[in-house]
Amino acid sequence: MVIDGHTRTCGLIGNPVAHTLSPLIHNALAEKFSHNLVYVPFPVEKGQALTAVKGAYELNILGLNVTVPFKSEVLPGLVETDELAEQIGAVNTLVRTRGGFKGYNTDMPGLYRAMVSEGIALAGEEVILLGAGGAARAVAFLCAAKGASRVYLLNRSVEKANAVAEEVNEKSRKKLVFPMALSDYPELPDGKFLAIQATSVGLYPDTEHAVIEEEAFYRKIHTGYDLIYKPSETKFMKLVKEQRGKAYHGLKMLLYQGIIAYELWNEVKVSEETAQEVYELLKEKAGI
Ligand code: ATR
Repeated sequence: MVIDGHTRTCGLIGNPVAHTLSPLIHNALAEKFSHNLVYVPFPVEKGQALTAVKGAYELNILGLNVTVPFKSEVLPGLVETDELAEQIGAVNTLVRTRGGFKGYNTDMPGLYRAMVSEGIALAGEEVILLGAGGAARAVAFLCAAKGASRVYLLNRSVEKANAVAEEVNEKSRKKLVFPMALSDYPELPDGKFLAIQATSVGLYPDTEHAVIEEEAFYRKIHTGYDLIYKPSETKFMKLVKEQRGKAYHGLKMLLYQGIIAYELWNEVKVSEETAQEVYELLKEKAGI
């Protein structure tokens, strides 16, 4: 591409950012749309996220992605926050508006669009959600927003499961989330469920573990969605497949959270065909 006096800049703030796949997504999209735009990583010192956001605005940056550990820290530096991001209490995308940045959370819409593209429904579904950390909490809000009928939230620490269930039920004004200990899975009702794996167990290099390893648990699952994409087949996914369930990793979620951010920054709609082309590049880069 040619960088000239009109080139717009987007980027990622976080710490660390060196292993990010986001530049590949956004620079590929810029090329496909013939947009004069570059996307670069910006490593930011811990505690300096607000200064970075302010500086980015002054530098006429068009948009930012925000990753660990700044997803909540940047909130006070924004002029506006989208409703879902507000509920979740975390943003991963900042969009330049008049006077400052508006914050969005595209992780969850990204997960949703990834699920839709695989033909996985949330509306009316009974969902098993594994984990009660930041990622699981966001998935629970997504389930509420997309009309899941019930969410069984299983976590090692039951207190954290209780707290997330209480918060999501209160904010969504539904009795949707039922907290449970991991070991209580035999108490789940009969039937087959969609299970979303939102713990950090199984993430590279801890590839030999799943948060629950008993076969009996996996007999309850028709579809398993792991938010992890490294490795591309987690132990959780293997266990789901062994019981004849369908299993997916989280790389498409990464793709779509990026695509939605790009759409917000550039006011365009990325077609499924283009999404698939970028996904091929992403898989290659991720070694999948
Ligand atoms: P994230 O922001 O990615 O969700 P997190 O907030 O640190 O990360 O949450 C990690 C999740 O993985 C939690 O649900 C955690 O369970 P606890 O709440 O009981 O800590 C879960 N987790 C991490 N290591 C685990 C392990 N060895 N066994 C079971 N659950 C584990």
